[in-house]
Order: sequence, then C-alpha cells, then structure tokens
Amino acid sequence: MSGFGDPPPDLDRPGFGTPAAAGDDPPTAPAVPPAPVPESPAATARVSARVNGELRTAEVEPRTLLSDCLRHQLGLTGTKVGCEDGTCGSCTVQLDGEPVLACLTFAIQVDQAQITTIEGLPPGRLQESFHEHHALQCGFCTAGMLLTLDAYLREHPEPTDAQLKEALAGNLCRCTGYAPIIEAVRNR
Ligand code: FES
Ligand code: FES
Repeated sequence: MSGFGDPPPDLDRPGFGTPAAAGDDPPTAPAVPPAPVPESPAATARVSARVNGELRTAEVEPRTLLSDCLRHQLGLTGTKVGCEDGTCGSCTVQLDGEPVLACLTFAIQVDQAQITTIEGLPPGRLQESFHEHHALQCGFCTAGMLLTLDAYLREHPEPTDAQLKEALAGNLCRCTGYAPIIEAVRNR
C-alpha cells in the first residue's frame, strides 16, 4: 500500500500522459464481440387431444407447456397462469378426469388424452354456490379451484372441512381467506 513516504510515481513512463515512443506497439483494437450463432428452428410435433369434448390439434415444440398451448394456441384463456412453477394451482386443468398443473405439463404429454378446462366444465351447483357465497373476488384462482374440486367431489361427495382444506392445499387464493370457498362447497 502506498503512503506519504513513498517515492512519486514515474510520470514519464508511457501511458502516464507521455506520448508513446516510436516503435512502441500500436494500441490494441477493441475486442469485437463474436457474431451471434443463429438458433436452429426447434423441431415441432403435432399433438391431438380431445379438449372439452372437441378434437383439437396443435403444432408444438417439445418445451411448450400445456398452459401456453391452451391459452395461446387454442385460445382457452380461462386457464390462468400465476406462478408457472407448480405453486399456486391457478393453471389446474383435468387430464383424463384428474387434476393436473398445466404449467408443469408439456403439451406433447397430452397427445390423445382428454383435457377439461374451465370452459368445458358443465355449469352446476358448485359454480352457483361459489357465486352465492362470494367464494371468489378477483377470480384468478377460481378456474383452478373449480377443476380441483370437481374432480375431488366426484370421489368424495361429502368431505369434512379438514378433507376439503387438504384437497385445496395446492390451490392458493389471495382474496377470499378460503372460508367462503369451504362454505360454498358445503352448501352446494
Ligand atoms: Fe401453474 Fe401456478 S401457474 S401452479
Ligand atoms: Fe382472487 Fe382467489 S379470488 S385469488
């Protein structure tokens, strides 16, 4: 470390305000960044599935998420995307009758399957009861809640509150506090 007693720097050395002497190396040219390598187009695959009772086909990349395919390619925007990492349950759809997270499912995995989204869930007492008990506010979680509950209630028509809470543990709601949702299910 330099201090007060150190000799002064050599102000005559090149690069310290003095022009370079003849014969010195020319200044190096600034580095040119390498040209970007063009991405090769990703291979796509044709996926066919029965979505809400209708045969639908889409051309998808292997990485295409089911949630993106439903929303952007099939126009089924009732499927909501909250976290995209499997935490919130907003993207829940039914795959062959069972709830799955569409953000953790690749579209190519559902070839030849049956998919139900909120657009295809038949109107019924559950939805009416949600309405009557104010079991939704912003509604962002509601499609996922209904699709989870629809599948669960088929197997457990008279659940206890504890069972209901467990069934809905993967569906997060920022608005309702959950009590009206439980009420809606109990009084459907
Ligand atoms: Fe799929 Fe949150 S968007 S779990
Ligand atoms: Fe808003 Fe559930 S109603 S997140």
